[in-house]
Amino acid sequence: MTTKLLFQDPAAFASPLLTVFAVDTATGKDEPAAPALLTASEALAKAAAPWLASGEFKATLGETLLLHSPSGLKAERLLIVGLGKAKALSVHEVRKGAGVAVRFAKPRGLRELSIVFPEDKALPGSLTARTLAEGALVADFDIDIYRSDRKDQSVDMVTVLHVETNERSLAEMQTGFAEGIILGESQNFARTLVNEPGNILTPTELGKRTAAMCAEFGLQCEVHSIDKILELKMGAFAAVTQGSVEPPALIVMRYEPATPPAADTPVIGLVGKGITFDTGGISIKPAENMDKMKYDMAGAAAMIGAMRAIAQLMPNVRVVSVVCSCENMPDGKAFKPGDVITAMSGKTIEILNTDAEGRLVLADGLHYAQQLGATRLINAATLTGAIGVALGLLNAGLFSNDDATVEQFTNALPISGEKFWRMPCTDDYREQIRSQIADIMNTGGSRYGGATTAAMFLKEFVGETPWIHLDIAGTAWIDEVKPWQSKGPSGVAVRSITEWVRSYAS
Ligand code: BES
Ligand code: ZN
Ligand code: ZN
Repeated sequence: MTTKLLFQDPAAFASPLLTVFAVDTATGKDEPAAPALLTASEALAKAAAPWLASGEFKATLGETLLLHSPSGLKAERLLIVGLGKAKALSVHEVRKGAGVAVRFAKPRGLRELSIVFPEDKALPGSLTARTLAEGALVADFDIDIYRSDRKDQSVDMVTVLHVETNERSLAEMQTGFAEGIILGESQNFARTLVNEPGNILTPTELGKRTAAMCAEFGLQCEVHSIDKILELKMGAFAAVTQGSVEPPALIVMRYEPATPPAADTPVIGLVGKGITFDTGGISIKPAENMDKMKYDMAGAAAMIGAMRAIAQLMPNVRVVSVVCSCENMPDGKAFKPGDVITAMSGKTIEILNTDAEGRLVLADGLHYAQQLGATRLINAATLTGAIGVALGLLNAGLFSNDDATVEQFTNALPISGEKFWRMPCTDDYREQIRSQIADIMNTGGSRYGGATTAAMFLKEFVGETPWIHLDIAGTAWIDEVKPWQSKGPSGVAVRSITEWVRSYAS
């Protein structure tokens, strides 16, 4: 999809589908809806006036109204998209609104559409431009690439139109728009990886696609085989992969800024869980919904997507990313409950459940990232079913050992629009993973607080380094289709991690 931002009068722009946003300006609880367009264009206001007055369109978020041959406009159709209550308006509704327009066009065979840039005091120009691009791109993604009857329903071109004359505002909006394209495309890159089935996206294939992306965007990349994993004494990662005939991949990406950052700038380490299929291993999962476990590499995909965005946004901060990718399979050679393994850090781990494999590969990934120089760590992982039980499917879980790092991450969220909720990860929970046999065990003695137990396990491998763990098991795959987004992989965390990394730039 090509996306453009043009500074032209929308009324005079020829388009198969021109989209304009509307909000409900009614404030009282029982007051009837009072929709108003978010544009200063009088021609547009005139074309829409009779329909807005009719009361049939209430401008709720995602609501649409289509007018054919709108009078006084060059466009063939006018689509009015509701963004909800005026007083609750933010750029996040705009992101969704742009998505609604694209997903309205897709099934109708409309390959081109235009969107009127929304104008409101609640909408800063640059960030609004960015969310329009993000929303349009994210909405174009669908999960049906292996369907023979799939008609290529992608939208080819989205043009955003704004009448603006101030040179500085123009430049800011173009910058924001360009960032939105990078972020939206990188989020979709991650989603494409997550959508791939386990037989196609093996660890080897994940390595190849990551290397190709890195070559395209100028990142350093190394994809290591089992030999290196054994040489590094990554005993936890090696234990998980040993039951699979598919070779594992230890993927290392590096972003080096053009000029050296200030001496006190941290080196950021991004670590991803890249289990391309999780059967549970010897502690095998039930058959129901096991197909979904192809998405157990969504944490890795989030990091690869973030690195893709970072490479293009070029912040003045060093970033290293470690992805530990393998399958978790039952086999004669598979690791077993009761086994004791030694992680790269030297800690011994008693295996109680081979389905708690994500924390094992991350333990070695987090340790290795520090060896490679990382002084701030973040990891993302579809780590526990328990996080969905605790938080539902809206917020991802956030765990950390450092308040300042959490604050810096949280500051990125009003920009990314993603939702993370902090969960406890204090030392009084450590008791849950204490083992009689080894230094620690890989699951807790009880099923209560399972997401925190997993986080406490990871915490054992980060030492004093400020660290954030994102448990995205409940949010990386969306079963419900939204008017602005397909069902399937969400690409969650790509935008937030990228923004957080940028916040460290010197
Ligand atoms: N990949 C799963 C986590 C998961 C579960 C993601 C459900 C999405 C949906 C992880 O490897 C796992 O199996 N975790 C176990 C941990 C348990 C054995 C302590 C879980 O959550 O059940
Ligand atoms: Zn598992
Ligand atoms: Zn898993």
